[in-house]
Amino acid sequence: MSSKQNPAREAGNFSRRHLLKGAMASALAIPMVGSAHPKAVAQTDPEDNVDLSKEHAFYGEAGQAGIDTPPQRYIMYMTFDMTSTNPRDLQVLLARWSSAIAQLMKGETIGQVEPTRDSGVGMDTGEALDLGPASLTVTVGLGPRIFGDAFGLAQHKPALMRELVQLPSDNMKPELSGGDLSLQACADDPQVAYHAIRNLARIAKETGAAATRWSVLGFGRASAGKGQSTPRNLFGFKDGTRNLTEKSDFDKFVWINDGGPAWQQQGSYQVVRKIEMRIENWDTDRVSDQNNVIGRHKVSGCPLSGKQEFDTPDFTKKDESGNLVIPPTSHISLVAHENNAGIKLLRRSYNYTDGLNNLGMMNAGLLFISYQKDPAQFEILQTKLGASDAMNEYISHIGSGIFFVPPAPKEGSYIGAEMFES
Ligand code: HEM
Repeated sequence: MSSKQNPAREAGNFSRRHLLKGAMASALAIPMVGSAHPKAVAQTDPEDNVDLSKEHAFYGEAGQAGIDTPPQRYIMYMTFDMTSTNPRDLQVLLARWSSAIAQLMKGETIGQVEPTRDSGVGMDTGEALDLGPASLTVTVGLGPRIFGDAFGLAQHKPALMRELVQLPSDNMKPELSGGDLSLQACADDPQVAYHAIRNLARIAKETGAAATRWSVLGFGRASAGKGQSTPRNLFGFKDGTRNLTEKSDFDKFVWINDGGPAWQQQGSYQVVRKIEMRIENWDTDRVSDQNNVIGRHKVSGCPLSGKQEFDTPDFTKKDESGNLVIPPTSHISLVAHENNAGIKLLRRSYNYTDGLNNLGMMNAGLLFISYQKDPAQFEILQTKLGASDAMNEYISHIGSGIFFVPPAPKEGSYIGAEMFES
Protein backbone atom coordinates (compact mmCIF):
# COMPACT_ATOMS: atom_id res chain seq x y z
CA MET A 1 0.00 0.00 0.00
CA SER A 2 1.38 3.45 -0.88
CA SER A 3 1.65 6.15 1.76
CA LYS A 4 -1.12 7.94 -0.14
CA GLN A 5 -3.46 5.12 0.80
CA ASN A 6 -2.23 4.85 4.37
CA PRO A 7 -3.33 7.84 6.45
CA ALA A 8 -1.41 6.68 9.54
CA ARG A 9 1.88 6.52 7.67
CA GLU A 10 1.05 9.81 5.91
CA ALA A 11 0.41 11.50 9.29
CA GLY A 12 3.67 10.05 10.60
CA ASN A 13 5.64 11.38 7.66
CA PHE A 14 3.98 14.73 8.04
CA SER A 15 4.76 15.20 11.69
CA ARG A 16 8.35 13.90 11.32
CA ARG A 17 8.95 16.25 8.39
CA HIS A 18 7.59 19.19 10.31
CA LEU A 19 9.51 18.39 13.49
CA LEU A 20 12.68 18.18 11.44
CA LYS A 21 11.94 21.44 9.67
CA GLY A 22 11.17 23.19 12.96
CA ALA A 23 14.34 21.88 14.64
CA MET A 24 16.53 22.88 11.71
CA ALA A 25 14.98 26.30 11.39
CA SER A 26 15.47 27.19 15.03
CA ALA A 27 18.98 25.69 15.16
CA LEU A 28 20.20 27.58 12.14
CA ALA A 29 17.97 30.64 12.65
CA ILE A 30 17.39 30.94 8.91
CA PRO A 31 14.05 31.21 7.15
CA MET A 32 12.94 27.89 5.69
CA VAL A 33 12.91 27.97 1.93
CA GLY A 34 9.37 27.57 0.81
CA SER A 35 7.77 28.14 4.20
CA ALA A 36 6.18 31.42 3.12
CA HIS A 37 5.07 30.09 -0.22
CA PRO A 38 1.47 29.38 -1.03
CA LYS A 39 0.39 25.78 -0.74
CA ALA A 40 -1.24 24.02 -3.65
CA VAL A 41 -4.91 24.21 -2.77
CA ALA A 42 -7.28 21.71 -4.30
CA GLN A 43 -9.89 23.44 -6.39
CA THR A 44 -13.27 23.24 -4.81
CA ASP A 45 -15.73 24.83 -7.18
CA PRO A 46 -18.39 22.45 -8.45
CA GLU A 47 -17.26 22.64 -12.10
CA ASP A 48 -13.86 21.32 -11.11
CA ASN A 49 -15.18 18.35 -9.17
CA VAL A 50 -14.97 16.23 -12.23
CA ASP A 51 -17.95 14.00 -12.87
CA LEU A 52 -16.93 11.59 -15.61
CA SER A 53 -20.54 10.54 -16.22
CA LYS A 54 -21.46 14.04 -17.37
CA GLU A 55 -22.45 14.41 -21.03
CA HIS A 56 -23.18 17.27 -23.42
CA ALA A 57 -25.62 17.23 -26.33
CA PHE A 58 -24.30 17.29 -29.87
CA TYR A 59 -27.57 18.17 -31.62
CA GLY A 60 -29.31 21.46 -30.89
CA GLU A 61 -30.69 24.77 -32.03
CA ALA A 62 -27.68 26.93 -31.16
CA GLY A 63 -23.90 26.90 -31.53
CA GLN A 64 -21.93 23.66 -31.50
CA ALA A 65 -20.91 22.29 -28.12
CA GLY A 66 -17.28 23.01 -27.22
CA ILE A 67 -17.52 26.78 -27.60
CA ASP A 68 -19.55 28.08 -24.67
CA THR A 69 -19.24 24.75 -22.83
CA PRO A 70 -17.15 25.27 -19.66
CA PRO A 71 -13.66 24.16 -20.74
CA GLN A 72 -12.91 20.53 -19.92
CA ARG A 73 -9.48 19.49 -18.71
CA TYR A 74 -7.96 18.04 -21.90
CA ILE A 75 -8.00 18.56 -25.62
CA MET A 76 -7.06 16.58 -28.70
CA TYR A 77 -7.11 18.87 -31.69
CA MET A 78 -6.61 17.70 -35.28
CA THR A 79 -6.90 19.17 -38.74
CA PHE A 80 -7.43 17.33 -42.01
CA ASP A 81 -6.79 17.94 -45.72
CA MET A 82 -9.47 16.91 -48.17
CA THR A 83 -8.04 14.30 -50.53
CA SER A 84 -11.10 14.48 -52.78
CA THR A 85 -12.70 17.58 -54.26
CA ASN A 86 -16.00 15.82 -54.87
CA PRO A 87 -18.56 17.64 -52.66
CA ARG A 88 -20.38 14.34 -52.25
CA ASP A 89 -17.34 12.89 -50.42
CA LEU A 90 -17.31 15.87 -48.08
CA GLN A 91 -21.03 15.47 -47.49
CA VAL A 92 -20.67 11.77 -46.62
CA LEU A 93 -17.76 12.52 -44.29
CA LEU A 94 -19.64 15.29 -42.44
CA ALA A 95 -22.72 13.06 -42.13
CA ARG A 96 -20.72 10.09 -40.84
CA TRP A 97 -18.70 12.27 -38.46
CA SER A 98 -21.89 13.86 -37.10
CA SER A 99 -23.60 10.58 -36.23
CA ALA A 100 -20.36 9.21 -34.73
CA ILE A 101 -19.79 12.37 -32.64
CA ALA A 102 -23.35 12.21 -31.30
CA GLN A 103 -22.65 8.67 -30.05
CA LEU A 104 -19.19 9.45 -28.71
CA MET A 105 -20.52 12.42 -26.71
CA LYS A 106 -22.96 10.05 -25.02
CA GLY A 107 -20.04 7.85 -23.99
CA GLU A 108 -21.04 5.15 -26.47
CA THR A 109 -18.79 3.27 -28.85
CA ILE A 110 -19.34 3.85 -32.54
CA GLY A 111 -19.71 0.16 -33.32
CA GLN A 112 -18.51 -3.25 -32.33
CA VAL A 113 -15.17 -3.41 -30.53
CA GLU A 114 -14.85 -7.17 -30.72
CA PRO A 115 -16.51 -8.55 -33.84
CA THR A 116 -18.02 -12.01 -33.65
CA ARG A 117 -16.34 -13.10 -36.88
CA ASP A 118 -12.69 -14.07 -36.49
CA SER A 119 -11.80 -12.10 -39.58
CA GLY A 120 -13.69 -8.96 -38.47
CA VAL A 121 -11.98 -5.62 -37.81
CA GLY A 122 -13.38 -3.62 -34.89
CA MET A 123 -15.63 -0.67 -35.77
CA ASP A 124 -14.53 1.09 -32.56
CA THR A 125 -10.97 0.88 -31.25
CA GLY A 126 -12.15 0.26 -27.69
CA GLU A 127 -9.83 2.32 -25.47
CA ALA A 128 -12.67 4.43 -24.10
CA LEU A 129 -14.83 1.46 -23.06
CA ASP A 130 -15.94 1.99 -19.43
CA LEU A 131 -14.53 5.52 -19.24
CA GLY A 132 -17.86 7.36 -19.50
CA PRO A 133 -18.66 10.45 -21.60
CA ALA A 134 -16.29 12.58 -19.46
CA SER A 135 -18.01 15.76 -20.75
CA LEU A 136 -16.68 15.09 -24.25
CA THR A 137 -17.46 17.69 -26.91
CA VAL A 138 -16.28 17.44 -30.49
CA THR A 139 -16.48 20.68 -32.46
CA VAL A 140 -16.21 20.55 -36.25
CA GLY A 141 -14.73 23.39 -38.33
CA LEU A 142 -14.59 24.02 -42.09
CA GLY A 143 -11.43 25.61 -43.52
CA PRO A 144 -11.19 28.31 -46.22
CA ARG A 145 -10.56 25.88 -49.12
CA ILE A 146 -13.94 24.19 -48.54
CA PHE A 147 -15.52 27.43 -49.78
CA GLY A 148 -13.09 27.90 -52.68
CA ASP A 149 -13.86 26.92 -56.28
CA ALA A 150 -12.75 23.28 -56.04
CA PHE A 151 -15.81 21.92 -54.22
CA GLY A 152 -18.47 23.98 -55.98
CA LEU A 153 -19.60 25.34 -52.60
CA ALA A 154 -18.36 28.91 -53.05
CA GLN A 155 -21.90 30.30 -52.99
CA HIS A 156 -22.15 29.12 -49.37
CA LYS A 157 -18.98 30.88 -48.21
CA PRO A 158 -19.55 32.65 -44.88
CA ALA A 159 -19.16 36.35 -45.52
CA LEU A 160 -15.99 36.85 -43.45
CA MET A 161 -14.27 33.53 -44.24
CA ARG A 162 -10.70 33.98 -45.51
CA GLU A 163 -7.14 33.04 -44.72
CA LEU A 164 -5.72 35.03 -41.81
CA VAL A 165 -3.45 37.85 -42.89
CA GLN A 166 0.29 37.49 -42.21
CA LEU A 167 0.83 38.97 -38.76
CA PRO A 168 3.91 40.49 -37.09
CA SER A 169 6.25 37.92 -35.47
CA ASP A 170 4.57 34.99 -37.29
CA ASN A 171 6.97 32.08 -37.56
CA MET A 172 4.62 29.51 -39.06
CA LYS A 173 5.60 26.01 -39.98
CA PRO A 174 3.45 24.80 -42.90
CA GLU A 175 3.23 21.31 -41.40
CA LEU A 176 1.61 22.79 -38.27
CA SER A 177 -0.74 25.14 -40.10
CA GLY A 178 -3.91 25.18 -42.15
CA GLY A 179 -6.29 22.36 -42.94
CA ASP A 180 -9.63 21.96 -44.68
CA LEU A 181 -11.39 20.54 -41.62
CA SER A 182 -10.75 20.80 -37.89
CA LEU A 183 -11.86 18.65 -34.98
CA GLN A 184 -11.57 20.00 -31.45
CA ALA A 185 -12.25 17.19 -28.96
CA CYS A 186 -12.30 18.28 -25.31
CA ALA A 187 -12.98 15.99 -22.37
CA ASP A 188 -12.21 15.54 -18.69
CA ASP A 189 -10.36 12.32 -19.49
CA PRO A 190 -7.53 12.59 -22.06
CA GLN A 191 -8.16 9.07 -23.32
CA VAL A 192 -11.76 9.93 -24.12
CA ALA A 193 -10.63 12.91 -26.21
CA TYR A 194 -7.95 10.82 -27.90
CA HIS A 195 -10.37 7.99 -28.63
CA ALA A 196 -12.82 10.38 -30.28
CA ILE A 197 -10.22 11.84 -32.63
CA ARG A 198 -8.66 8.48 -33.39
CA ASN A 199 -11.99 7.00 -34.44
CA LEU A 200 -13.06 10.07 -36.41
CA ALA A 201 -9.71 9.98 -38.24
CA ARG A 202 -10.41 6.34 -39.07
CA ILE A 203 -13.73 7.33 -40.59
CA ALA A 204 -12.01 10.03 -42.66
CA LYS A 205 -9.58 7.43 -43.96
CA GLU A 206 -12.31 4.88 -44.69
CA THR A 207 -14.33 7.35 -46.72
CA GLY A 208 -11.19 8.26 -48.69
CA ALA A 209 -12.25 11.90 -48.36
CA ALA A 210 -9.64 13.39 -46.01
CA ALA A 211 -6.20 12.76 -44.53
CA THR A 212 -4.75 13.94 -41.22
CA ARG A 213 -2.66 17.14 -41.33
CA TRP A 214 -1.53 18.23 -37.84
CA SER A 215 -2.62 17.62 -34.29
CA VAL A 216 -1.97 18.64 -30.70
CA LEU A 217 -2.77 16.84 -27.46
CA GLY A 218 -3.23 19.44 -24.75
CA PHE A 219 -3.70 19.36 -20.99
CA GLY A 220 -4.51 21.81 -18.22
CA ARG A 221 -7.19 24.05 -19.68
CA ALA A 222 -5.73 27.55 -19.89
CA SER A 223 -9.08 29.31 -19.88
CA ALA A 224 -12.07 29.56 -17.63
CA GLY A 225 -15.80 29.49 -18.22
CA LYS A 226 -18.62 30.70 -16.00
CA GLY A 227 -18.32 29.39 -12.45
CA GLN A 228 -14.89 27.82 -13.01
CA SER A 229 -11.77 28.75 -11.09
CA THR A 230 -8.97 30.25 -13.16
CA PRO A 231 -6.32 27.70 -14.18
CA ARG A 232 -2.67 28.45 -15.01
CA ASN A 233 -0.67 28.34 -18.21
CA LEU A 234 2.91 27.02 -18.42
CA PHE A 235 4.31 30.44 -17.50
CA GLY A 236 2.70 29.78 -14.11
CA PHE A 237 0.20 32.64 -14.50
CA LYS A 238 -3.55 32.44 -14.11
CA ASP A 239 -5.04 32.45 -17.59
CA GLY A 240 -8.67 33.19 -18.31
CA THR A 241 -9.41 35.73 -15.56
CA ARG A 242 -11.03 38.17 -17.97
CA ASN A 243 -12.60 35.75 -20.44
CA LEU A 244 -16.14 35.91 -21.80
CA THR A 245 -18.79 34.39 -19.56
CA GLU A 246 -21.99 36.39 -20.10
CA LYS A 247 -24.54 35.49 -22.78
CA SER A 248 -24.71 39.12 -23.85
CA ASP A 249 -20.95 39.00 -24.61
CA PHE A 250 -21.34 35.75 -26.56
CA ASP A 251 -24.12 37.34 -28.63
CA LYS A 252 -22.06 40.44 -29.23
CA PHE A 253 -18.62 38.92 -29.87
CA VAL A 254 -18.85 35.17 -30.60
CA TRP A 255 -22.03 33.99 -32.35
CA ILE A 256 -22.77 35.01 -35.92
CA ASN A 257 -26.22 36.58 -35.74
CA ASP A 258 -26.06 39.12 -38.55
CA GLY A 259 -29.13 37.99 -40.47
CA GLY A 260 -27.07 36.31 -43.24
CA PRO A 261 -27.83 32.76 -44.50
CA ALA A 262 -29.93 30.92 -41.91
CA TRP A 263 -27.60 27.89 -41.71
CA GLN A 264 -24.69 30.11 -40.62
CA GLN A 265 -26.50 31.83 -37.74
CA GLN A 266 -25.09 30.79 -34.34
CA GLY A 267 -21.92 29.71 -36.11
CA SER A 268 -18.56 31.24 -35.24
CA TYR A 269 -14.99 31.54 -36.54
CA GLN A 270 -12.37 29.43 -34.80
CA VAL A 271 -8.78 30.71 -34.81
CA VAL A 272 -6.12 28.31 -33.61
CA ARG A 273 -2.45 29.11 -32.97
CA LYS A 274 0.21 26.74 -31.79
CA ILE A 275 2.40 29.01 -29.68
CA GLU A 276 5.77 27.68 -28.57
CA MET A 277 6.77 29.00 -25.14
CA ARG A 278 10.46 29.09 -24.27
CA ILE A 279 9.72 28.08 -20.75
CA GLU A 280 13.33 27.40 -19.77
CA ASN A 281 14.30 31.00 -20.62
CA TRP A 282 11.19 32.24 -18.85
CA ASP A 283 12.17 30.32 -15.73
CA THR A 284 15.44 32.27 -15.47
CA ASP A 285 13.62 35.62 -15.50
CA ARG A 286 12.95 37.56 -12.29
CA VAL A 287 9.34 37.15 -11.22
CA SER A 288 8.95 40.94 -10.93
CA ASP A 289 9.87 41.13 -14.61
CA GLN A 290 7.44 38.29 -15.45
CA ASN A 291 4.71 40.26 -13.67
CA ASN A 292 5.49 43.28 -15.86
CA VAL A 293 5.39 41.11 -19.00
CA ILE A 294 1.87 39.93 -18.19
CA GLY A 295 0.62 43.01 -16.27
CA ARG A 296 -0.56 40.85 -13.38
CA HIS A 297 0.89 39.28 -10.24
CA LYS A 298 1.93 35.68 -10.72
CA VAL A 299 0.46 34.04 -7.62
CA SER A 300 -2.75 36.00 -7.05
CA GLY A 301 -3.46 36.84 -10.69
CA CYS A 302 -4.47 40.36 -9.67
CA PRO A 303 -3.70 43.23 -12.04
CA LEU A 304 -0.59 45.22 -11.07
CA SER A 305 -2.93 48.14 -10.41
CA GLY A 306 -5.18 46.20 -8.01
CA LYS A 307 -5.42 43.88 -5.03
CA GLN A 308 -7.73 41.03 -6.05
CA GLU A 309 -7.74 38.76 -9.09
CA PHE A 310 -11.01 40.11 -10.45
CA ASP A 311 -10.25 43.80 -9.87
CA THR A 312 -10.66 45.74 -13.10
CA PRO A 313 -7.19 46.72 -14.35
CA ASP A 314 -6.54 50.45 -14.17
CA PHE A 315 -4.41 51.21 -17.21
CA THR A 316 -4.03 54.88 -16.20
CA LYS A 317 -2.68 54.37 -12.68
CA LYS A 318 0.86 55.73 -12.17
CA ASP A 319 3.48 55.06 -9.50
CA GLU A 320 5.29 57.82 -7.58
CA SER A 321 7.84 58.18 -10.40
CA GLY A 322 5.04 58.84 -12.88
CA ASN A 323 5.32 55.47 -14.66
CA LEU A 324 2.24 53.48 -15.56
CA VAL A 325 1.79 50.70 -12.98
CA ILE A 326 0.66 48.29 -15.72
CA PRO A 327 3.35 48.70 -18.39
CA PRO A 328 1.93 49.65 -21.79
CA THR A 329 3.90 46.79 -23.39
CA SER A 330 2.43 44.24 -20.99
CA HIS A 331 0.23 41.54 -22.47
CA ILE A 332 -3.00 42.65 -20.81
CA SER A 333 -2.47 46.32 -21.59
CA LEU A 334 -2.13 45.54 -25.30
CA VAL A 335 -5.20 43.30 -25.59
CA ALA A 336 -7.68 44.59 -23.01
CA HIS A 337 -10.97 45.75 -24.52
CA GLU A 338 -10.53 49.13 -22.80
CA ASN A 339 -7.56 49.76 -25.11
CA ASN A 340 -9.03 48.21 -28.27
CA ALA A 341 -12.29 50.01 -29.03
CA GLY A 342 -14.18 47.46 -26.97
CA ILE A 343 -13.02 44.35 -28.90
CA LYS A 344 -13.32 41.05 -27.02
CA LEU A 345 -12.94 37.41 -28.04
CA LEU A 346 -13.52 34.06 -26.36
CA ARG A 347 -10.31 32.22 -25.45
CA ARG A 348 -10.47 28.42 -25.07
CA SER A 349 -6.79 27.49 -24.93
CA TYR A 350 -4.85 24.51 -23.53
CA ASN A 351 -1.27 23.87 -22.48
CA TYR A 352 0.62 21.36 -24.58
CA THR A 353 3.93 19.53 -24.51
CA ASP A 354 5.76 17.89 -27.39
CA GLY A 355 8.48 16.42 -25.17
CA LEU A 356 11.98 17.75 -25.85
CA ASN A 357 13.32 19.65 -28.85
CA ASN A 358 16.51 18.64 -30.68
CA LEU A 359 18.58 20.69 -28.20
CA GLY A 360 17.13 18.72 -25.30
CA MET A 361 15.02 21.68 -24.17
CA MET A 362 11.41 21.43 -23.13
CA ASN A 363 9.20 21.74 -26.17
CA ALA A 364 5.95 23.13 -24.84
CA GLY A 365 3.50 25.94 -25.18
CA LEU A 366 -0.06 27.06 -25.55
CA LEU A 367 -2.60 25.77 -28.03
CA PHE A 368 -4.39 29.10 -28.26
CA ILE A 369 -7.96 28.79 -29.57
CA SER A 370 -10.29 31.73 -29.88
CA TYR A 371 -13.85 32.06 -31.10
CA GLN A 372 -15.19 35.28 -32.60
CA LYS A 373 -17.86 36.39 -35.02
CA ASP A 374 -15.27 38.18 -37.15
CA PRO A 375 -11.66 36.95 -37.63
CA ALA A 376 -10.60 40.62 -37.55
CA GLN A 377 -11.19 40.59 -33.78
CA PHE A 378 -8.24 38.20 -33.47
CA GLU A 379 -6.15 39.91 -36.15
CA ILE A 380 -6.43 43.35 -34.55
CA LEU A 381 -5.29 42.07 -31.15
CA GLN A 382 -2.56 39.80 -32.52
CA THR A 383 -1.21 42.61 -34.73
CA LYS A 384 -0.58 44.61 -31.57
CA LEU A 385 0.82 41.64 -29.66
CA GLY A 386 3.09 40.57 -32.53
CA ALA A 387 4.51 44.10 -32.79
CA SER A 388 5.03 45.06 -29.14
CA ASP A 389 4.14 42.34 -26.61
CA ALA A 390 6.86 42.11 -23.96
CA MET A 391 6.08 38.37 -24.05
CA ASN A 392 7.51 38.00 -27.58
CA GLU A 393 10.97 37.33 -26.16
CA TYR A 394 9.57 34.08 -24.78
CA ILE A 395 7.06 32.89 -27.36
CA SER A 396 6.80 32.07 -31.04
CA HIS A 397 3.65 31.43 -33.07
CA ILE A 398 4.54 28.28 -35.04
CA GLY A 399 1.13 26.98 -36.19
CA SER A 400 -2.09 28.62 -37.33
CA GLY A 401 -5.51 27.83 -38.70
CA ILE A 402 -8.90 29.39 -39.28
CA PHE A 403 -12.19 27.52 -39.55
CA PHE A 404 -15.85 28.37 -39.83
CA VAL A 405 -17.74 26.42 -37.17
CA PRO A 406 -21.35 25.92 -38.30
CA PRO A 407 -24.09 25.76 -35.68
CA ALA A 408 -25.06 22.43 -34.11
CA PRO A 409 -27.15 20.25 -36.44
CA LYS A 410 -30.73 19.44 -35.52
CA GLU A 411 -31.40 15.84 -34.49
CA GLY A 412 -31.43 13.65 -37.59
CA SER A 413 -29.31 16.08 -39.62
CA TYR A 414 -25.55 16.69 -39.78
CA ILE A 415 -22.98 19.49 -39.71
CA GLY A 416 -23.25 21.80 -42.72
CA ALA A 417 -26.09 19.80 -44.36
CA GLU A 418 -27.63 22.94 -45.82
CA MET A 419 -24.55 23.51 -48.02
CA PHE A 420 -25.44 20.44 -50.05
CA GLU A 421 -29.12 21.20 -50.52
CA SER A 422 -28.76 23.39 -53.61
C1 HEM B 1 1.58 31.95 -25.21
C2 HEM B 1 0.77 32.94 -25.48
C3 HEM B 1 -0.10 33.60 -24.46
C4 HEM B 1 -0.03 33.58 -23.10
C5 HEM B 1 0.99 32.85 -22.23
C6 HEM B 1 -1.10 34.40 -22.61
C7 HEM B 1 -1.35 34.65 -21.26
C8 HEM B 1 -2.32 35.50 -20.78
C9 HEM B 1 -2.52 35.82 -19.39
C10 HEM B 1 -1.69 35.26 -18.25
C11 HEM B 1 -3.55 36.69 -19.31
C12 HEM B 1 -4.09 37.36 -18.05
C13 HEM B 1 -5.25 36.64 -17.42
C14 HEM B 1 -6.55 36.75 -18.14
O1 HEM B 1 -7.24 37.77 -18.12
O2 HEM B 1 -6.91 35.76 -18.78
C15 HEM B 1 -4.03 36.91 -20.66
C16 HEM B 1 -5.07 37.72 -21.01
C17 HEM B 1 -5.52 37.90 -22.28
N1 HEM B 1 -4.97 37.40 -23.43
FE1 HEM B 1 -3.38 36.20 -23.56
N2 HEM B 1 -1.82 34.90 -23.66
C18 HEM B 1 -1.23 34.44 -24.82
C19 HEM B 1 -1.64 34.70 -26.11
C20 HEM B 1 -2.71 35.50 -26.45
C21 HEM B 1 -3.12 35.77 -27.80
C22 HEM B 1 -2.46 35.23 -29.07
C23 HEM B 1 -4.21 36.59 -27.73
C24 HEM B 1 -5.04 37.21 -28.83
C25 HEM B 1 -4.58 37.63 -29.96
C26 HEM B 1 -4.47 36.82 -26.31
C27 HEM B 1 -5.50 37.56 -25.82
C28 HEM B 1 -5.73 37.83 -24.50
C29 HEM B 1 -6.82 38.64 -24.01
C30 HEM B 1 -7.91 39.31 -24.86
C31 HEM B 1 -6.69 38.70 -22.62
C32 HEM B 1 -7.58 39.46 -21.63
C33 HEM B 1 -6.97 40.80 -21.36
C34 HEM B 1 -7.86 41.64 -20.45
O3 HEM B 1 -8.98 41.91 -20.84
O4 HEM B 1 -7.39 42.00 -19.38
N3 HEM B 1 -3.54 36.14 -25.58
N4 HEM B 1 -3.25 36.18 -21.53
